Amino acid sequence: MKYNHIKPFPESFLWGGSTSAYQVEGAWNVDGKGPSVIDMMNHPEGTAGFTVASDHYHRYKEDIKLFAELGLKAYRFSIAWTRIFPEGTGEINKNGLEFYNNLIDELNKYGIEPIVTMYHFDLPYALEEKGGWNNRATVDAFVEYARTLFEHFGKKVRYWLTINEQNTMILHPGAIGVPKGGKLPTKKELYQQNHHMLVAQGRVMQLCHEMCPNGKIGPAINLTTMYQATCKPEDAIAAHNWETIRGWSFLDLAVNGRYNALFWNYLVERQIEPIIEEGDLADIKAGSPDFIAINYYSTVTIAESKGDASDVSPRAGDQQIMLGEEGVYRAAENSYVGKTKYGWVIDPVGLRLTLRKAFERYNLPILITENGIGAPDELTDEETVEDDYRIDYIRDHLKQVQLALTDGVQVIGYCPWAAIDVVSTHQGYRKRYGFIYVNRGEDDLLDLRRIKKKSFYWYKQVIETNGRTN
Ligand code: BG6
Repeated sequence: MKYNHIKPFPESFLWGGSTSAYQVEGAWNVDGKGPSVIDMMNHPEGTAGFTVASDHYHRYKEDIKLFAELGLKAYRFSIAWTRIFPEGTGEINKNGLEFYNNLIDELNKYGIEPIVTMYHFDLPYALEEKGGWNNRATVDAFVEYARTLFEHFGKKVRYWLTINEQNTMILHPGAIGVPKGGKLPTKKELYQQNHHMLVAQGRVMQLCHEMCPNGKIGPAINLTTMYQATCKPEDAIAAHNWETIRGWSFLDLAVNGRYNALFWNYLVERQIEPIIEEGDLADIKAGSPDFIAINYYSTVTIAESKGDASDVSPRAGDQQIMLGEEGVYRAAENSYVGKTKYGWVIDPVGLRLTLRKAFERYNLPILITENGIGAPDELTDEETVEDDYRIDYIRDHLKQVQLALTDGVQVIGYCPWAAIDVVSTHQGYRKRYGFIYVNRGEDDLLDLRRIKKKSFYWYKQVIETNGRTN
């Protein structure tokens, strides 16, 4: 659609940057922190682990000063559950509360809005040993953890995200990692876990509204639009299958409190539907979000299933993510989009379409909490990184966000991944996302000094001009 006037970004737009605790903090066992499933997972040899990461735990003041220089209006980070409750529940670790209290104060000192993810993949290992999300007790543990966060930070934090990418954890459990000696859950278990997370999330959203009158809370889902490979009607059905099962079914529950009919029938037909206890659906329904947070990287193109094992194949460049499901859909190539060096589809227009579809469906403000390009950045002799590919990627996506705003979608902020280099879950520091380079290798920690990339200066100017990308 051609417009004569493109709407400006709103004055209140939350120009931000994102990280998550296990990928940036390090200090995995410091000051009373307990182990999480991430700390205990099997790790690819020769790839940086999470023990030191970007050492943000010890350098958060220096990092936040740089975020302020960058001009960030918001910083989206996660709280490590195991810093607050080393065992997931029970005794509180005061050092953990103090760390996040200081971090939030430091952000507020510079006028940077804290956006807090409560749980970003790092379930306490002590809970995992008792069954993790298969165990209903984890629902209560999450609610108590949330209550503690609201009690201590509810007056200083306005934006809360419940669970990061619940859909990734359920649909691609191997992508997050398997605890040492552990095995992947069955599909039946996964959808029970999913149900428990939804109940927990519903209860936490209610609690937030009771305890934090100025707080806003929402789910953070990895959302993407699906294209059908051809105009063959069966391809269209397959694309709709996967768009529903991968994305809408999670948000339909989080926002409208109901199991999507197609999704429910898919579960029942495979005998993997969860046990729903009395009161669960009421809790899910009562927890209404104030906004939706979406992580967007790529689109997927879908063809009709052949009904055999050939439907399933690994995503290009990423053996941990399997695409396709026998009898449901299969992945297809799209010759109209680009790819990153890691084989991820680059599709800025897909972001506009995803935003339009999500807004049309739920009519809630949308916060983009992740979007970015992972690349093997190289430090130059001039002490910078010439990451023009990152500038191009973000510029092209921001143009589409602005078009989505012009379409009438209420987008309230953009927090690219990542504010600073973090450990990529599988590719360590060979795959970087930040505006700020962290000087370390995979095993060699070097001096961990912070270096501004070319994209840092570019994004700073985007923020200063409230969205001028040229
Ligand atoms: C998102 C996650 O799905 O993708 C982040 O929320 C993650 O934690 C990001 O880092 C990029 O993925 P990767 O595998 O390139 O680090």
